[in-house]
Amino acid sequence: MAHGARTEPPATRSAGARAAPPPTALAPLDAALAARLGVLDMTALRLDYWRRDEFAVLEDILPVEVVARLRAEVLSLEPRVKRKSIWGYKSAGSLALPVLKTHAPEIVALYRSPVLIDLLSRLSELPLQICPDDDPHAAAVYWYDRAGDRIGFHYDTSHYRGARFTVLIGLEDDSTARLQCRLHTRERRRPQERIDVHMSPGRLVFFNGDKLLHGVSPLQPNQRRIVLSLQYVSDPSMTPWRRALSTVKDSLTYFGSDAFR
Ligand SMILES: [Fe+2]
Repeated sequence: MAHGARTEPPATRSAGARAAPPPTALAPLDAALAARLGVLDMTALRLDYWRRDEFAVLEDILPVEVVARLRAEVLSLEPRVKRKSIWGYKSAGSLALPVLKTHAPEIVALYRSPVLIDLLSRLSELPLQICPDDDPHAAAVYWYDRAGDRIGFHYDTSHYRGARFTVLIGLEDDSTARLQCRLHTRERRRPQERIDVHMSPGRLVFFNGDKLLHGVSPLQPNQRRIVLSLQYVSDPSMTPWRRALSTVKDSLTYFGSDAFR
């Protein structure tokens, strides 16, 4: 984790020693992200994140052209969207990590971006890392395009030994549906705070999954809402029992059994 890391002074080079290799250049996506993040007021962001019990809405983190490319990757995958409905609780389509790994390289690059992970680690004050490859939720797309598509209130409960954090990024949203957030629900001495977020393209929401109660209000006819979800953890290990529980839940409510083969 870069946060808090110390930079050692360069060693004195002796005669005949090889020159040190140049620092690794940032990939174009990381360079674009770094340029955006360089102008952020991190002190204010962190204060706000912690005041809201580990919840933040970040604007203009991703360049417009990057968001457009992410959206284009996702739209090309529409035939692969898998729909799941649970009466009274959830109805939506999704694309799981295995599909994105094969067909959406820029989304996977964003998920693994050291610049993004460093930002999230600095906000959460934890050394965050990506989830294991066998977690279909690790990077996924949620696709709402039928009247009534929604998801009821829930926590993104961590089945890992470490804390689990969610990043949501709007890719397309011409809908009246909103990400409904309820803050401080597990803090006895603070009143709940309600925040409804329109996931417009490029808007980024970041939160601790065990702390934020959230859902998505129902879509109206002839609307579409597509959101990218990225999951990070502070410790990616998991007991066999929690692994089994997580697999059954994801298979039933999101991706079907195909995502685990
Ligand atoms: Fe969620």
